[in-house]
Amino acid sequence: MARLSDADGVVLRPEEFRLLRDLFSARTGIAFGPESRFAIERRLRERLAVLNLANFSEYYHFLRFNPLADAEWDEALDLVTTNETYFFREDFQLRAFRDEVLPLLANQAEQSRTRRLSIWSAGCSTGEEVYSIAILIHQSGLFNRKAPNSEPLWDVRVHGSDISRRCIANARRAVYAGGAFRVTPPEVRRDFFEDRADGFHVIESIRDMCHFGQMNLLHADRARVLGNMDAIFCRNMLIYFDAPARKQVISTFHERLLPGGVLLLGHSESLLNVSTAFELLHLRGDLIYRKPPAQFRDSRNPGKV
Ligand SMILES: C[S@@+](CC[C@H](N)C(=O)[O-])C[C@H]1O[C@@H](n2cnc3c(N)ncnc32)[C@H](O)[C@@H]1O
Repeated sequence: MARLSDADGVVLRPEEFRLLRDLFSARTGIAFGPESRFAIERRLRERLAVLNLANFSEYYHFLRFNPLADAEWDEALDLVTTNETYFFREDFQLRAFRDEVLPLLANQAEQSRTRRLSIWSAGCSTGEEVYSIAILIHQSGLFNRKAPNSEPLWDVRVHGSDISRRCIANARRAVYAGGAFRVTPPEVRRDFFEDRADGFHVIESIRDMCHFGQMNLLHADRARVLGNMDAIFCRNMLIYFDAPARKQVISTFHERLLPGGVLLLGHSESLLNVSTAFELLHLRGDLIYRKPPAQFRDSRNPGKV
């Protein structure tokens, strides 16, 4: 086994960078510009030492052809992707979602007589976005009503997916430390988390609404398993994608959204030059995208009008 220092001086040559860049781009949609060569070199170098490889060409071949490539792919992904996230990130958008969008979605679901609310956080990293959405749904008070026999009337599900298995395992664990709460109001942390020795645990009633799965967004067939969505959050991920991957992912979202369903992107992301299939929904506190609502009554329950 090579020592870490054995790989210290190994350089990622331009042709090796192109091979690795194209492999990552084809498999994940993430675009790496020439400026990322040295960051990739720095981040992946430790893998050469762990695998006892002499250079990045060998690493490329390992990722493509070695019987252990799948496990190594997960390691490589976690080293080169950005998983930065925290609770209530871009909180103005989340407040607009709670106060302006959820009432619309509740109304649409009532009209289709389903009383089902399905939300998808695509590229959810370690789950903070998913639990934030579930807390907002709870706070809205719109979906908590019980039937006389105490059976919940609403079926509310918040799905979180990410390409990283490590992130999804952490999201399922639902235990968080200080940094994740950098913009969380103290009363929210008090009400929706249990302070235990190993960190802040999301309380059970919020966890029960949330479901996680590992998924590469370039695989549209996997996304079909989730069914139809009322809202999709895809924030701070498309900025890392190349143009074809953006188009492909947005087309998947369009397919998955119910008519009248909404798409919420990160603050620095837009559908300009990506898709014209959505309309803009002007909220008091934000601008979001919506799949045109025509005939939303029919699509959930084709039999009902
Ligand atoms: C910066 S995080 C954003 C987390 C969260 N949405 C937020 O805004 O705080 C981007 C996430 O996208 C995930 N990702 C990158 N490419 C992906 C792909 N092809 N399919 C699914 N997830 C992907 C990464 O693993 C990462 O966790």
